[in-house]
Amino acid sequence: MNDSSDENPDYRYDPVAYEIEENARPDEMSMLRACNGAVDALLSDAIAADVLDLCCGTGLSMQSATNHPNVGRLHGVDECQAYLDYCAQKYSSARVIPTLLHGDAVTLPLPLSSYNVVILASAYHHIEDHRKVEFLRRVRSVIAGGGTAVLAENVLPEYLPENAVSYREAVSKFYAEVLIDAERSDASLPTYVRRLIQRVAQYGHDGDYEYKVSHPILLADIGAAGLSIASQRRVWPQTPIGEMGGNYVLTLRSID
Ligand SMILES: C[S@@+](CC[C@H](N)C(=O)[O-])C[C@H]1O[C@@H](n2cnc3c(N)ncnc32)[C@H](O)[C@@H]1O
Repeated sequence: MNDSSDENPDYRYDPVAYEIEENARPDEMSMLRACNGAVDALLSDAIAADVLDLCCGTGLSMQSATNHPNVGRLHGVDECQAYLDYCAQKYSSARVIPTLLHGDAVTLPLPLSSYNVVILASAYHHIEDHRKVEFLRRVRSVIAGGGTAVLAENVLPEYLPENAVSYREAVSKFYAEVLIDAERSDASLPTYVRRLIQRVAQYGHDGDYEYKVSHPILLADIGAAGLSIASQRRVWPQTPIGEMGGNYVLTLRSID
C-alpha cells in the first residue's frame, strides 16, 4: 500500500480494497445492516423463497439471505468477475450457496415474475442516469406477485438540475460527512483508507461508475418504473445533509 502517490487507490476491480473501504464507513455499515435486516424481516414468513441481489458485488448485501432458513434459491448478478469470485469464496460453505451470474444488471436475461425478494444495495447509483428507470422497470418485471424489492441507497443533498458545478458540490458535501463520520469512528483512520473513500467521491465528481442522485429524482424514477414505496427509512445521518441527503433503505412493491 503506497500512500506517496498523488492518485487515490482504486477499489473498482479489487474486492479486498472495496471491503476495507466499506468497513471503514459507519454510513455504509449502518445502511448494509438495515438492508440485511429488511431482507431478514421479509423472509421471516417465507417458504423456500427466491432471492435476487442485483449488483451484488462482494456479497455484503446478500449476507442475511445466505444464512436464512427460509431461502430456497439465491441469485447474485454483477459485472465485475473479481468481485463475484470473492463473493463465491466467501459463501462457499454458507447455508444457501449463491448462484452468481456475470453480466449487466439491466439487460442480463432473468426469469420474469420469479423473485420474492430483490436486493438493490448501492445498485441504482451505479446505473447510468439514462438507464435508471429501465433498471427499475426490470426490477419490477422480475418480482414475483406479492414480492418486494429492498433498495438501499446513498442519496445526495439537493442540487440544481443539469448543473455540473452544483452536482459536484452535492457530492462533496455528502462525502465530507462520510469522512467526518469515518474519522469519528477511527481517529487514526489510515491514509490509504481515507483515500479509498476519496476515490468514491472522485468517481462521483468525474461522472464515471458512480451516478448518485437526490431524493426527488430517486422518487420520480421509482414512480416512473411502476413501483410504489411500501416503507422508507433514513438510516444515516441523524440529521439529513441538506433537506433529504443521507443513506436510505426503502421497500418497493409493484403498482397493480
Ligand atoms: C457499491 S457496489 C455494491 C455491492 C453490494 N451490493 C454491496 O452493497 O456491497 C456496486 C456494484 O455494482 C456493480 N455494477 C455496476 N454497474 C453494474 C451493471 N451495469 N451491472 C451489474 N453490476 C454492476 C459493480 O461491479 C459493484 O460490484
